[in-house]
Amino acid sequence: MRKLAVLTGGGDCPGLNAVIRAIAKSAQGYGVEVLGIRDGFRGAVEGDFMPLGLKDVSGILPRGGTILGTTNRDNPFAYQTKLNGVNQAVDRSDDVIRNFQKQEIDALLAIGGDGSLNIALKFVHKGLKVIGIPKTIDNDLMATDQTFGFQTAVDTAQEALDRLHTTAESHHRVMVLEVMGRYAGWIALYAGVAGGADVILIPEIPYNLNRVALSIQQRAKQGKKFSIIVVAEGVKPLGGEMVLERLMEGRVDPIKLGGIGAKIGHDLEEHYGMETRVTVLGHLQRGGSPNAYDRVLSTRYGAAAVDAALEGKFGIMVALQGREIVQVPLQEAVNQIKLVPLNDPLLLAARTLGMEMGD
Ligand code: F6P
Repeated sequence: MRKLAVLTGGGDCPGLNAVIRAIAKSAQGYGVEVLGIRDGFRGAVEGDFMPLGLKDVSGILPRGGTILGTTNRDNPFAYQTKLNGVNQAVDRSDDVIRNFQKQEIDALLAIGGDGSLNIALKFVHKGLKVIGIPKTIDNDLMATDQTFGFQTAVDTAQEALDRLHTTAESHHRVMVLEVMGRYAGWIALYAGVAGGADVILIPEIPYNLNRVALSIQQRAKQGKKFSIIVVAEGVKPLGGEMVLERLMEGRVDPIKLGGIGAKIGHDLEEHYGMETRVTVLGHLQRGGSPNAYDRVLSTRYGAAAVDAALEGKFGIMVALQGREIVQVPLQEAVNQIKLVPLNDPLLLAARTLGMEMGD
């Protein structure tokens, strides 16, 4: 093993730079050279590499984003290319293989979520030596207990909830906070519990707005004249569809619709006469410095990926299981989403504490 390449793919996430740094530093310790690939799989297709030596990663541990750049658009197997003035999806995966051969790269370390690791798996089938590293604030990747970036996103959402609490209490209002998570409710559940929300709505449990309104009215009767609702972006009403599904299929105009948080806020005012304000936390959850937990997890993932490469273990993903970093087949991580199980201990604890889940 003489040369490794590393790329970051998909949406960015706190901790990406910490992983890159750990890879560069531990590879250096073993006398292995590391090349960074700029902008994810775009750079792999175009042959856009940069050196990743010790001086290149110096000082990046606490920095958000990724020094390599990333994109969630470019897939080498369906690469948008202009042919005769028309945009077409062309298979350029062979260009990636050629670029790797030209650079004498022995293996690829792909830091990504479901989408990027899926592409990485296709390259495994083409004979490339690949190791995956699980990234996403959504924490929805299978085969690992946790992805890096999740805990920092939860911190950000919890801080927002703390701030919303004080203004909600002063004005006797209902405050809705919409958080990310795609089809899963991990961020909403953890932030909701950490931030003491009164209502937590997650995609795994279709919500009934009547139940939500009733619980707010009951609180008011007990003298609590404000309520805090956390809504995961992918929630769906009982018998309805996920807003995300409709958005992805292009069946609604996102600008007109607003997020699901806006709809819930609107309905609480309109149908139940509750003064409501809505905050969409959005990409604040993806930006900024990773917390201590994510710096440690990212560092462990980076070091473990280099170890796996030196052991000659490919077609795998490094994963957290319990307290250990283990190697799992890459195919176990992709093509399925890790949702919050209905018997998740934190979900059950939230219910025991009287938090309303909308069902
Ligand atoms: O998967 C991470 C995530 O932040 C989701 O929570 C969110 O739905 C999506 O990415 C937003 O992606 P973007 O704005 O980069 O297209």
